[in-house]
Amino acid sequence: MEVPKLQIGNLVADVPIVQGGMGVRVSLASLASAVANEGGIGTISSIGLGDIEASKTEYERISREALIREIRKAKTMTKGLLAVNFMGVLSNVDDLVITSVKEGIQIIVFGAGLPTRLPVLVPDPNVNLVPIVSSARVAELILRTWDKRYGRTADALILEGPLAGGHLGFSEEQLTHPEDYALEILLPEVLEAIRPYEDRYGKKIPVITGGGIYDGKDIARMLSMGASGVQMGTRFVCTEECDVSREFKQAYLDAKKEDIVIIKSPVGMPGRAIWNPFLKDLAEKGKLKINCPFRCLTACKVDRANFCIALALVNSYFGDVNHGLIFCGQNAYRIQEIVTVKDLMDELIFELKAA
Ligand SMILES: Cc1cc2nc3c(=O)[nH]c(=O)nc-3n(C[C@H](O)[C@H](O)[C@H](O)COP(=O)(O)O)c2cc1C
Repeated sequence: MEVPKLQIGNLVADVPIVQGGMGVRVSLASLASAVANEGGIGTISSIGLGDIEASKTEYERISREALIREIRKAKTMTKGLLAVNFMGVLSNVDDLVITSVKEGIQIIVFGAGLPTRLPVLVPDPNVNLVPIVSSARVAELILRTWDKRYGRTADALILEGPLAGGHLGFSEEQLTHPEDYALEILLPEVLEAIRPYEDRYGKKIPVITGGGIYDGKDIARMLSMGASGVQMGTRFVCTEECDVSREFKQAYLDAKKEDIVIIKSPVGMPGRAIWNPFLKDLAEKGKLKINCPFRCLTACKVDRANFCIALALVNSYFGDVNHGLIFCGQNAYRIQEIVTVKDLMDELIFELKAA
């Protein structure tokens, strides 16, 4: 079997694998460039790059400069395709989007919040806009709004199912029966919802599915159902090139299936993480001390939040996992070793061809 390429706008990836953006420094230049060098799309996360103890202006400046550094560094490491991931709930998201475009990024991936104004921030039609959605209803809502207001449509969509890592676009109640929202159910609905917009704009809107995709067989199944590619996060965490601490990766290797839990995030969405001393402490105390000089997330209600998610994720990044949150996908417990990105991509492509 020929491995199909993934086309987004006028960009073509040799391999239909997107490494998902992973916030608070898990996917930076090192991981993203390694994936791009193997023919996939590497995604730098713009989230949590600032100093959380800084003042508002300082925080914005530090985040912007850190993002510029990561983009420039990645570009020195690869000639392949790079994307940047954004969360709509970030208070400085507009600045980070504009900064990325100025730095020449041509794929803008936007989740955790409706990207209603994204085409205004990025008027250049050569920059590809890729919203993350969890249902056909939201996909249709975004495309309808963009069509009416801006005469523009998405250049691709990422459809993220309930088995993904990080924040999830499903309610806690929906996550108790994820099989009802399996990608196999959601994908045909999304493909149907976007068809009128593909017809109107005379172009294909590729749908990239993510959440629980573990091996080449999973990729083959998604492609056979009409996906144009897949987005994977969890498997890329356990690579040499992944930017996060060794302790974070080790927590994946040590995790058992029953350690993978759903938590309530101060962002207002559920998230998936590994049960550890930090979550145990939080469960026992009910609330941890928060010092928030600058509200990095518009959706975080500081007075009601039971912990600072930015601090918890930064701790994990630096290796203090006992005081940190470890986001992961549902399949994290299946990973047995840390490999190079090249070995992982070769394995996935080998399995995809065999399937
Ligand atoms: C540690 C971790 C952090 C993540 N952070 C983000 C994020 O900041 N923004 C985002 O859109 N998705 C985030 N995700 C989701 C991934 O980009 C990806 O879509 C998802 O993990 C795919 O599912 P998989 O992990 O089962 O492969 C994160 C996932 C993980 C595992």
